[in-house]
Amino acid sequence: MASKFIVAGPASQSVAVQVANLLEIPVVETEFKKFPDGENYIRLNVEDESIFNGSDMIIIQSADFPQNDHLMELFYLISIAKRVEAASIRVVVPYLAYSRQDKVFRPGEAISAKLILQMIVQAGANEFVTIDIHAPEVLSNLGIPATSLDSTPLLANYLKSRDLVNPVVISPDKGSRDRSAQFASLIGAELVLFDKSRDRITGEIDMEGEAELNGRDVAIVDDIIATGGTMATALGIAKNAGARNLYALCSHALLIGNALFKLSKLECEVIGTNAVNSPVSVVSVAPIIAKHFKE
Ligand code: R5P
Repeated sequence: MASKFIVAGPASQSVAVQVANLLEIPVVETEFKKFPDGENYIRLNVEDESIFNGSDMIIIQSADFPQNDHLMELFYLISIAKRVEAASIRVVVPYLAYSRQDKVFRPGEAISAKLILQMIVQAGANEFVTIDIHAPEVLSNLGIPATSLDSTPLLANYLKSRDLVNPVVISPDKGSRDRSAQFASLIGAELVLFDKSRDRITGEIDMEGEAELNGRDVAIVDDIIATGGTMATALGIAKNAGARNLYALCSHALLIGNALFKLSKLECEVIGTNAVNSPVSVVSVAPIIAKHFKE
C-alpha cells in the first residue's frame, strides 16, 4: 500500500496535525517566509524528498487572510508534490477564499471562485475538498472529484451542550435556508425565516423579519461571518424582540474589521470552526476531514 502523508500548510497547522493524528499517518511541517520584495517561499521541511515518491499526499491549507499569500503557498505545495512524484495529490482547503465571487453580479466581473478552483486543478490536484463552500455549484465540471464537507452537525453538537430555552433558529437570508433548517432540526428548535438584501455597490444590508422571540434563545448559523453585518442585523432584531441568549455560529469566522465588536455589543456568543483560525474557532473540523479520507 502507498504511504500517506498530511502536509500542514502554514494556514492550517493545527487542523492538519489533528487530521494526521486521527488517520494515524505522518504529518509534514512546512518552512515558509516572505522575501523582502513580497514574494512567497515555501518548502517541505524534510531532508530526503524521495520519501514522497509514489505516496498519497494530502495537502491541508486554508485560504483565509492573507488569502493571496495562502493561495500562492497552496499552488507551490501542489507543484512540489507533483515534482516529487506523489502518486496522488489531494487538496483540502477548509476555507476557500473568493468563494462568494461565484457568478457575474455586475457586468465586467470575473468569476473568481471558479478561476481559483481551475488553478488548483491546473497545478496538479487530483481531488479537492473544502468545508461548507458558499456556492457548491462552483465545484461542478472541474474534472476532478470535488466535495464540500458539512460542518453543521459539529456546530449543532457544540450548541446542544448549552441549556437552550425554547430555542429558535433564524435563517438570515435565502442562501442560508436549507442549512438553517438542518441546524434547527438537529438542535430541536423552531425555524424562522428572515429576508436580507445587500446593496451590491455599498455592501449595505437591509433585513426584514418578525417572530415571537420573547425569553427564547436564538441561534443563527451562516457559512461566513465577514464584517458581521448579517449576524448583527438579524441578532439585533432578535434582541429587540426580547430574545434571551444569542448565538452566532459559522463555519468561517473571518471577523473583518469591527465584526467582533458589533457582535459583542449584542452580548452574543460567537462560535466558529477551525476551518479558519480565529479567536472564536472552538469547533474542530478535523473529524469530518479525517472521515472523508477514511471512506
Ligand atoms: C452571504 O450570502 C453569506 O452567506 C454571509 O451571510 C455573508 O458573507 C456574511 O457577510 P457579513 O458578515 O459581511 O455580513
